[in-house]
Amino acid sequence: MSQTFGTACLWIAPAKEAPCHLSVLSPAERIRAEGMHPAGRPAFVTARGLLRRRLARMTGLSPEAVPLTQQPGQAPVLEGHAYGPYFSVSHTQLDGRPFAAVAVSSVCPIGIDLEDPARAVDWRRMAARRLHPGEWAAIAARDEGAARQMFFDLWCLKEALVKLMGASLLPVLSRTRIAPDRPPRLLDNPIDGRRHVLALAHVRRRRLTLGMAAARTLDWRLYGAD
Ligand SMILES: CC(C)(COP(=O)(O)OP(=O)(O)OC[C@H]1O[C@@H](n2cnc3c(N)ncnc32)[C@H](O)[C@@H]1OP(=O)(O)O)[C@@H](O)C(=O)NCCC(=O)NCCS
Repeated sequence: MSQTFGTACLWIAPAKEAPCHLSVLSPAERIRAEGMHPAGRPAFVTARGLLRRRLARMTGLSPEAVPLTQQPGQAPVLEGHAYGPYFSVSHTQLDGRPFAAVAVSSVCPIGIDLEDPARAVDWRRMAARRLHPGEWAAIAARDEGAARQMFFDLWCLKEALVKLMGASLLPVLSRTRIAPDRPPRLLDNPIDGRRHVLALAHVRRRRLTLGMAAARTLDWRLYGAD
């Protein structure tokens, strides 16, 4: 077993606009939530509420006072905390129900992504057009069920890498190459040249695939996944 440098804690929760989450949002977050499509609002509110509570514990601030800011199309930033705590957020829909995932670590930058691998998308076309040719070849060599799962495994890992690196999606999809071993390995990374560490979980009961990426080897602890 490889040495770990510490932990990352990750929570997966069914999303709802509960008062406990709404009450800790900043004015800017409330305005954003009010402007969202109603279908997207519960996941955002839940993720942001959870994130504020976890970061409050790590910083000693109250959840409302956690200095999270965000520019459109960017990851949220914890002002004045360039060296942690680190965090990442993902949302998804499962059978029409929204889910939120939030991860935090005090060790190093992290990224996560949550997907429903049964989602109705033309995954073969996306794999052929968007992923690294070596990954597409590995997917195409498998039978239908295994190929679909491998596509979602790679997709989740790459979106987790995007969030970790703060990179653009399309170059990460096409230019990084991941070996779908257990654990998965980042073989080529011309985007920032670093050997980020990947992990994957299949939350069978919820039928969710979870991709995790970190700058160092971490012990990932999952909560609320059963
Ligand atoms: C980051 C990205 C992969 C998110 O993927 P997604 O499956 O749509 O959404 P998820 O629910 O998994 O993740 C959303 C979270 O990612 C984070 N995020 C958003 N933009 C981000 C960025 N540019 N970099 C890192 N993290 C980002 C946020 O925390 C966001 O949730 P929040 O706004 O509620 O806090 C996607 O938005 C992306 O590719 N952004 C990069 C910018 C880009 O290339 N834009 C062109 C799109 S064609």
